[in-house]
Amino acid sequence: MSGPADRLQARCPDFQWGAATSAFQIEGALRAGGRGPSIWDTFCQRPGAIAGGDTGERACEHHARWREDVELIAGLGLNAYRFSIAWPRVQPTGHGLANFSGLGFYDRLVDRLLERGVQPHATLYHWDLPQALEDEGGWRSRDTALRFADYAALVAERFGDRLASLATHNEPWVSAELGHARGVFAPGLRDPLAASRASHHLLLSHGLAVAAIRAHAPSLPAGIVLNMAPAWPATDSASDGLAAAREYTRLVRWYADPLLLGRYPDDQPDTPDRIPDSPVRDGDFALIAAPTDFLGINYYTRLWISTSTPPVPAPGREGFSEMDWETYPQGLLELFDRLRADYPALPPLVVAENGFAAADAMVDGRVDDITRRRYLQLHVEAVRPARARGDDIRGYFVWSLLDNFEWASGYAKRFGIVHVNYATQRRTVKESGRWYAAHVAAARERERSLRGVLVSG
Ligand code: FCB
Repeated sequence: MSGPADRLQARCPDFQWGAATSAFQIEGALRAGGRGPSIWDTFCQRPGAIAGGDTGERACEHHARWREDVELIAGLGLNAYRFSIAWPRVQPTGHGLANFSGLGFYDRLVDRLLERGVQPHATLYHWDLPQALEDEGGWRSRDTALRFADYAALVAERFGDRLASLATHNEPWVSAELGHARGVFAPGLRDPLAASRASHHLLLSHGLAVAAIRAHAPSLPAGIVLNMAPAWPATDSASDGLAAAREYTRLVRWYADPLLLGRYPDDQPDTPDRIPDSPVRDGDFALIAAPTDFLGINYYTRLWISTSTPPVPAPGREGFSEMDWETYPQGLLELFDRLRADYPALPPLVVAENGFAAADAMVDGRVDDITRRRYLQLHVEAVRPARARGDDIRGYFVWSLLDNFEWASGYAKRFGIVHVNYATQRRTVKESGRWYAAHVAAARERERSLRGVLVSG
């Protein structure tokens, strides 16, 4: 059985204006309702792993405050919300029967979003692997990809009729590279070969999950979300040029080539097809490259590559965020250009994350985050000409709805368009949130009147 030709268009006829979050970053309640431990629960206990010794124990208490958070989203006038499902809530050990209490939480969330006119866009994996699966080898093991497909089937069956879209993975590069090679994210390994194996199993699990989604929810739009950035050599020296090409390959092509061309790039010594005891098996690429309904892009900054000592700094004409990420809105258009050039079968695109960490100060009950507002404005304005010239872009999601647990940076780095006071859990819409709400209202109104003209014309 096959679904409609353009599943995303069928479920989301309007441009999707949203905000994004992920389960571990906002939910808290790590032991509620039979949730199993995840690799991030474990990693937070490792001394020195997280700034300030922060953990996900409370986070934004979204597990208890989800109704209030849905009202916030609806109050901002957004028509879409991107969140992730915590695998260990739904399948505490990553095996076997579903945990009904965990499923019930997402059931209520999805239903309420729909009641409030907000399209629910879910992600299956935003880095919170059940610890039990890590103990069996985690993403280094092929078996984890099979377990992921079972989990995908379970979610597709339960929510397939109500979700606006289902993404398999969020940023597999981060899971593989930061988690397995650099050791700065869970599970905290420093083993490049393990990272290469993990990257293949993540991609394979995506392919298996898409097949499971097609089987259980044929009309549900399915895709994947990659973090992407154009790579700029700092100078026109040959070594900067080569290094920039290499970094682009490692960040973007390592994932996008197998997904969209059915093969790994051929210019890296350690892609999964080249390492000793390669994890690649016959038939894997056919699964990995099965067509999807969208490709999500998370974009924050460009890669600025300098091989000299000391390195040539990025120009930063528009400034830098608290993460020290350069504001570079043209990077979005550069990325769209490059993707169109490299991949003839590019699916519709969704900007699944875009946002800015600022040192917000609450003064008289207000957060005047003008640097974040400007960042969002510049990037939203970069999406408009791309759409006007015919790029097939279906949505834009701000990272993030709420200030939240920013992984190894803990709660110190704030990305929200809504401020969270972690002592009281009070939410306050920031200036950037007000700006975004006004922008979305105007954009949706324009779209409505345009449609009116088309219908009556
Ligand atoms: C992305 C992650 C997201 C958040 C932002 C700042 O890489 O997907 O969870 O941490 O960065």
